[in-house]
Amino acid sequence: MALLAEPKEPKIVTDTVPGPASRSALQQLAELQDTRATVLAGDYSKSVGNYLADADGNLLLDMYCQIASIPVGYNNARILAAAGSPEMATALANRPALGVFPPKDWAQMLSETLLKVRPAGLDMVFTTAHGSDANEVAFKAALMNYARKRRGVRAFTEEELASVMDNEAPGAPDVAILSFALGFHGRTFGALSATRSKAIHKLDIPAFKWPRAPFPQLQYPLDKYEAENAAEEARCLDALDQILRTNKVPVAAAIIEPIQSEGGDRHASPEFFRGVRRITQEHDVALIVDEVQTGCGATGTFWAHEQWQLPTPPDMVTFSKKMQVAGFFHTREMVPDQTYRNFNTWMGDVPRTLIARAVVEEVAERGLIEQVRETGTYMLAHLRPLAIRYHRVLGNVRGQGTFVAFDCPTPEIRAELLQLMRNEGVNMGGSGELAVRFRPMLTLTKAHVNVFVSRLQSVLNKLYQKHWPQ
Ligand SMILES: Cc1ncc(COP(=O)(O)O)c(C=O)c1O
Repeated sequence: MALLAEPKEPKIVTDTVPGPASRSALQQLAELQDTRATVLAGDYSKSVGNYLADADGNLLLDMYCQIASIPVGYNNARILAAAGSPEMATALANRPALGVFPPKDWAQMLSETLLKVRPAGLDMVFTTAHGSDANEVAFKAALMNYARKRRGVRAFTEEELASVMDNEAPGAPDVAILSFALGFHGRTFGALSATRSKAIHKLDIPAFKWPRAPFPQLQYPLDKYEAENAAEEARCLDALDQILRTNKVPVAAAIIEPIQSEGGDRHASPEFFRGVRRITQEHDVALIVDEVQTGCGATGTFWAHEQWQLPTPPDMVTFSKKMQVAGFFHTREMVPDQTYRNFNTWMGDVPRTLIARAVVEEVAERGLIEQVRETGTYMLAHLRPLAIRYHRVLGNVRGQGTFVAFDCPTPEIRAELLQLMRNEGVNMGGSGELAVRFRPMLTLTKAHVNVFVSRLQSVLNKLYQKHWPQ
């Protein structure tokens, strides 16, 4: 396949996005699937770099990137080469059950991909299907480790073996995973009990009675509200300590995002996260850092939690999205004593791991994390003045690297802004109730930021003319 070149700017050939061809493709699909969340029908053979092509021939600068999951651009040359390699053909044609019949070079493949970027202190990796799955198996590892520490080396009792078949204690004990208000950890059954971002995600599904700790609600700009934010973080840490002291059932693990993403791009300081680490350690609670959305460079370090300078590493770090393959990093302690307990048929995916290898190489060779830091600083420097000039629409500008967001005053204004931006050729998304989130690729440059800022300014002018005419 001939490599496409990125355009200099978006190309929009329809009056609105989605245009007629997208709408027709989505109508056909609606006969077969629920399409109410769809935005447009993509043309992935024509998408290139930071630009997403759609069925109508529009080319949009993509700052949402398949819900934050494209690392180094559409039709990236290195990824296409990996995709077309004989190694990939073998991997695609012969899917192994990795827990039982791994390929002979699986250890080498993991060393060249995931272990190359492992967070400090976590030397083992468990591969899974997707982000929710990664969190679920991390929960299971924490729960089994918790039980082992209390049980010691003795064998399971007859009572444990019998009661667990009725989903009763002591075999199925009442032990909890703590999560934070407005956190998002996925939609599968166990993960959903830890998810606290939106009621609609959870309704009608039976849930574990697990505790929820408050997550700081910071005020912006940070330098103006230093004292208030420090007090807010101290309040949340006290509450966490109190919950771990008094919760009705023991807490085996706590899970936290470095930036609460689906919950509305909510940040906290490194001091707060160091406090969470200290308190969880004091209570012998495993700490799981959910880097499904923040991992793989977008915040300006490969893992966002590197910026916290923790005195001891977290117990587990989960990943997916930009990494292209999902799973969690862990210590040997998190391996259960008996086999087949944290297990499934595929245990990950070789083709996706080969793609992850290309991603890791691309990030290192092109210095993309350094680029993210520079581009992120440039983005914030352009957004902050817009927040002053267009304060009725745009506030609370915040970000780490290019993991940037701002808030709109109402969900309706946000929806209008996102639609107008698409019509101008920039694809962006929302998070939480009011936030507009930027989730660009690591390949975003200052030139792309210039393109997006000029479009944003034009959209802000339109919104002002409509809602606040002079
Ligand atoms: C922080 C976080 N954890 C977990 C998940 C769930 O991942 P998946 O949708 O791949 O199951 C997401 C998805 O958005 C996420 O943002």
